[in-house]
Amino acid sequence: MKKKASSLPIGVFDSGIGGLTVAHAISKLMPNETIIYFGDTAHLPYGDKSPDLIHSFVKNISKFLIRKEKCKSVVIACNTASAISYEFLRDKHVGNVPIFNVIDPIVEAISEDKQITKVGLIATKTTVESRVYQEKLKRRNPDLKIEVLATPLLAPMIEEGFSQDKISNTVIENYLSNPKFKGIDALILGCTHYVLIADEINEFFQGKVQLFDSTDILALKLKDIFENENMLSEKKRQENKFYVSDLTKGFEDSASRFYGQSLKLVLKKLKD
Ligand code: DGL
Repeated sequence: MKKKASSLPIGVFDSGIGGLTVAHAISKLMPNETIIYFGDTAHLPYGDKSPDLIHSFVKNISKFLIRKEKCKSVVIACNTASAISYEFLRDKHVGNVPIFNVIDPIVEAISEDKQITKVGLIATKTTVESRVYQEKLKRRNPDLKIEVLATPLLAPMIEEGFSQDKISNTVIENYLSNPKFKGIDALILGCTHYVLIADEINEFFQGKVQLFDSTDILALKLKDIFENENMLSEKKRQENKFYVSDLTKGFEDSASRFYGQSLKLVLKKLKD
């Protein structure tokens, strides 16, 4: 039996504001859908936290999104949380709604492109050390060469507003000129923040390396699934909401930059 089309919102969360790049892509592609965003700014960065701690954060957030905000599905718009907690949430989450991660759509897109024989990955330390990208890619294509590099300076640099300047150029060049990336056909931007420096990365590789990030690929995948499952909203969107667990002037200033248009953050502290 087909499910009834639902005008309930889509929950999207990240350790902070980086996931707003994903929320924006979803919102742009599916104009009827209402987004409830949660940025766990009180606990960021997730990229250097232990798996147990990340599990406890994401459990609380999804409880809030599913039980309180009645979301019809939840998108983990964070590579680190997707790498560590996707299976945990999918198998033990608090409601019966589909959970999506940002890693699988990228893995799928790369595996389907037979021109790609060597791929690079830049991401947080936790994402790299989890080996989730490496294992999922190898499972689909055992011949694929994969080179990974933790790039922990990039997320704070982007959050502080450094892009298209001397500092960002130096940091990007320093990381990407690593010899392991010689001859790559594609590079995975394995952190939701990196979308904001995609142009600079593209310039570094002189447009010769295909970049994969978790915005449009994820949004298209979601739309596809929602269409098949009859989950798309047929009604006009309600107002999107953007919650954060800690609200500072800095977050407010950069949130609109990440979302690509001005937005208002609302402070929401979750009980443990
Ligand atoms: N947004 C996170 C990600 O995609 C990076 C920031 C963090 O370490 O919390 O991995």
